[in-house]
Amino acid sequence: MRRQAPVWQAPWGDVYVTGYDLVSSSLVNRTLSHVPPVGEVAEPHSAMRDWLMYQEGAAHAALRQALQQPFVGKGAAVLRPVVADAVEELLGDAELSGDVDVVTAFTRAVPERIICRLLGVPDEDMSMIRAWSGPIRNILDAGFDDAFGDRPNPADEMSGYFVEHLRHLLAAGRMPPLLTGLPGLVDALGLKAAGRNIAFLAFAGHETTVHLIGSLLFHLAHQPAQWSALRADRGLAANAVAETLRLESPVQKICRWPLEPTAIAGHEIAKDQLVVLLIGAANRDPAQFPDASRFDLGRARQNLAFGRGAHVCIGRALAEMEGVAVLEAALGRWKSIEPVAWQWMDNSSIRGLDALTLRLTA
Ligand code: HEM
Repeated sequence: MRRQAPVWQAPWGDVYVTGYDLVSSSLVNRTLSHVPPVGEVAEPHSAMRDWLMYQEGAAHAALRQALQQPFVGKGAAVLRPVVADAVEELLGDAELSGDVDVVTAFTRAVPERIICRLLGVPDEDMSMIRAWSGPIRNILDAGFDDAFGDRPNPADEMSGYFVEHLRHLLAAGRMPPLLTGLPGLVDALGLKAAGRNIAFLAFAGHETTVHLIGSLLFHLAHQPAQWSALRADRGLAANAVAETLRLESPVQKICRWPLEPTAIAGHEIAKDQLVVLLIGAANRDPAQFPDASRFDLGRARQNLAFGRGAHVCIGRALAEMEGVAVLEAALGRWKSIEPVAWQWMDNSSIRGLDALTLRLTA
């Protein structure tokens, strides 16, 4: 597609954009809206419609400002010990040797535990967050209507949980690290929309990082020379994380809707026609990344895995911190990791492993 039709209209009407330059410029194209037309993504009353990523303009800017505060500046220093504790608790376990499904053992649990602690979710409620997140991931891929029709959907249920959770936090007056601005957020949005967005943060804040960590170990298990290079020079850990994000971008595609008739590379697109930006394809564009399918620790770290422009990921630093922390712990623990068996997820929006058995040798 990249070579023959970098902007391609499918027979069902949606437009797909694949090349690095075109995806990159489309991400900052203000004619392409983030707000789904009615009937797309979720029905009008769904909690998902309030999510930050589906807002535009001033409403988006104000909400983003409120949510991203703890991630910037000194905020990162507060996140680091939470990350370190979770990694130590889950990878410090002496049982982790021999053939281990690392997805079950820790790649899913580390980011889940971190986001729950950062949002003040009690450990005993973490299993509910997991139970809601899988179906939400599937809605984002397959569409809301096909999956749920009129039935209550997991995004609404998760939001309901967070509305109650926020109510308790406000009553107790003790805010967890990512919710220091909660009183202001609730004043500005009301409890319901605030709860919906914190539910979104809980989902977005781990469902992608889980796959970053799984894919990272997958590639290093397949390339012992790179594993050895990292053991010799831990300073390369951030490169390994960036290269995994490029090669196995956890967010593979992003949707936009033109506010008016427009054109991308001369291809005319109607108002409200769905435009799908294929980040995964852009990040493997050989025009941008020579020998693009090769995992290469020496490559520049710049890629589109976290998006670009006004909606660029607010959790980037946290996700990278988690990837590096798990990798450093793994490098310290295991002399070698070898692939035994794996299963990629059946999902075209989120790329990652459902299972990954590695032979871990201390
Ligand atoms: C490897 C991990 C991650 C990847 C690959 C990733 C990827 C992305 C991408 C591509 C976007 C842009 C969406 C768009 O333009 O429509 C985005 C937005 C977002 N991400 Fe992440 N993300 C990751 C981790 C996180 C974490 C850890 C958090 C929070 C703790 C987070 C919170 C968000 C939020 C709130 C947005 C919406 C921003 C906005 O619309 O202004 N993400 N992410």
